[in-house]
Amino acid sequence: MAALPASLAGSSKGSFAYFTIKDRLPQILTRVIDTLHRHKNEFFEEHGEKGIEAEKNTISLLSKLRNELQTDKPLVPLDDNLPDVPLWNQYLEYQQNLLAGNEKPSWFQSPWLYVECYMYRRIHEALLQNPPIDDYDVFKEIKFHSFFESQQAIIALCTYLQELRKNIEDLDEKQLQREFFKLLQVSLWGNKCDLSISASEDNSQKVNSLELLDDLKHFILVDDMESIWSLLINIKKRRSPKEVTRIDIVLDNAGFELITDLVLADFLLSSKLVTEIHFHGKCIPWYVSDTTKHDFNWTIKQLQSANNRWMSKCGITWEGSIRKGVMVYHDHIFWTLPHEFCSMAQVATDLYTELQKSNLIIFKGDLNYRKLTGDRKWEFTVPFHQALNKFHPAPLCSLRTLKSDVQVGLKLGQGEQLVTSEPDWMITGKYGVVQFDMSL
Ligand code: F6P
Ligand code: MG
Repeated sequence: MAALPASLAGSSKGSFAYFTIKDRLPQILTRVIDTLHRHKNEFFEEHGEKGIEAEKNTISLLSKLRNELQTDKPLVPLDDNLPDVPLWNQYLEYQQNLLAGNEKPSWFQSPWLYVECYMYRRIHEALLQNPPIDDYDVFKEIKFHSFFESQQAIIALCTYLQELRKNIEDLDEKQLQREFFKLLQVSLWGNKCDLSISASEDNSQKVNSLELLDDLKHFILVDDMESIWSLLINIKKRRSPKEVTRIDIVLDNAGFELITDLVLADFLLSSKLVTEIHFHGKCIPWYVSDTTKHDFNWTIKQLQSANNRWMSKCGITWEGSIRKGVMVYHDHIFWTLPHEFCSMAQVATDLYTELQKSNLIIFKGDLNYRKLTGDRKWEFTVPFHQALNKFHPAPLCSLRTLKSDVQVGLKLGQGEQLVTSEPDWMITGKYGVVQFDMSL
């Protein structure tokens, strides 16, 4: 079998990886430091002098981290007591073994995917080492802000869903398909709203996303919606009354994107295309806006208590679905490791086995795409299946807006044409893919 292409890395000057490590990551660290600083009084009120001490120590660890990054220092082993520490430290050894002689894995010389994940894990370590503020989510404030800033778009979507639910039983197959395509695209474009690409600047959804779909269609570079539909409708037609059809959604960002995922999930359940939805979120704050269990529960509570009746109806229904076990939330440390998904079967066998129970896994967002494809310098025309490098727990698809320079499965010449016409087509979130892999 041919060797895998090289990993994207900051060693390639001028690349987006280089720019991210050099500018965007330090910017995110600076914002985290600033957030802690601004919450000093809150820490004091809650924990007294101990809170202030912890805030100071955390800031000093984070400033040190920023300095290590900016001066391309070697990565160091983690030192806290979360269960993923041995896996991180083994991964560092593995990276070390790939290098010659005395070289050590460092920020700009190691794979971008590894060092970017490592930065978020070190932020978490700095907090863990400083009780009583060890469970403080440094991104909480901007995640909340982004939810509230998207309020109008959320209302529009919740209203649409509740209207749709009224006569969903009467829709024929063609109409159901049309609604499925719509909500799948809403969930795809919801991925524009992440706060990592914007270096934690507000990036919320301001307008009704349903009205934008026709104009955005042209920016979907790979559109496998028909294949996904065939899979789902055929399962529905063949299903016996008590049989389970399960979809797993590997979540990405909280805020508007999470609402689009919940709306899609609700539609899949109320149309009886599927009988169970399993969500997968992060165990720790991650890539600024990624969804943790706290964000998930907080979002549903916010909806429930919203003034708008359609929003609150959604919140109440989803709370009920969770209680009935038709919507299930999972988290697993694997999602916040630096590993490519092709190593899941070895590194997190339990998670792989869980995903094998699914009829379709939907991977949301850019980081999941990078991990699916190993964040490597693939040719644009390499088939998605090949880039997955034997990661096939179940049929799967990626709903992702492009925010990093890896893309596979394009038609001959399609990528090259975009390179010429729009040099930054891969990093702005303007383009998207709905990319499917059926084969096991
Ligand atoms: O660098 C851009 C970036 O921060 C990537 O590192 C990451 O892949 C992406 O944005 C996060 O996007 P998403 O929330 O879609 O995974
Ligand atoms: Mg994200």
